[in-house]
Amino acid sequence: MPKLFKRPKRLPLIAPSILSADFAKMGEDAGGTLTAGADLLHLDVMDGHFVPNLTMGPDLCRCLRRALPDAFLDVHLMVTDPAKFVDAFFDAGADHLTFHVEVLPPEGIAPLAERIRTLGMTAGLAINPPTPVERILPHLGAVDLALVMSVNPGFSGQSFIESVLDKTRAIADELQPDQRLQMDGGIKPSNAPAVREAGCDVLVAASAIYGLPVAKRAAAIAELRG
Ligand code: DX5
Ligand code: ZN
Repeated sequence: MPKLFKRPKRLPLIAPSILSADFAKMGEDAGGTLTAGADLLHLDVMDGHFVPNLTMGPDLCRCLRRALPDAFLDVHLMVTDPAKFVDAFFDAGADHLTFHVEVLPPEGIAPLAERIRTLGMTAGLAINPPTPVERILPHLGAVDLALVMSVNPGFSGQSFIESVLDKTRAIADELQPDQRLQMDGGIKPSNAPAVREAGCDVLVAASAIYGLPVAKRAAAIAELRG
């Protein structure tokens, strides 16, 4: 499996978050957005502790891997103890794991990223809207991707927090050409140009894609890409 975040075939990449898909027909909904032009699938894993919601775990990842053998599976761990789930998601066929800067002491970040990469996955580090950018800057060299949250994580369908764009520019300035900058939360065609202009090259969207009828999803994906 080529590492999409290291060697993208095009940029920006569009990552539908399956959080807003119909869980009763997940294979069809997830595969359908790839057919409609999306580049990868974003899996929002929530533990009811780091964020106030419960969503999905390694078993869903395994089922998607089986149903969509060529899909790139980007797992966003919104959990208090990400280290506990690295092996389970690797075994379940994940290609990439992002964990949050808020849940680890500074000295724990590079070792966890290294553990993820040693298994053959790429590693990402996420930052929530209220967290100062200084918390993530010293660790960018340890990861393949930085994820700037543009909502307080927990639920799809929230409003985009525009003030995170300054933080995003500061991170973009520090990244190397083979590192990706992802944004997640409240992204829709109307604000996607500002997200791209701030330096983001991976755009996550749940409600702006799965909230539409199937026939309109390809156009939404194209509009997000710009
Ligand atoms: C935060 C999740 C996001 C979110 C995106 O809660 O990490 O992926 O569900 O949903 P939309 O695009 O609807 O804001
Ligand atoms: Zn996410």
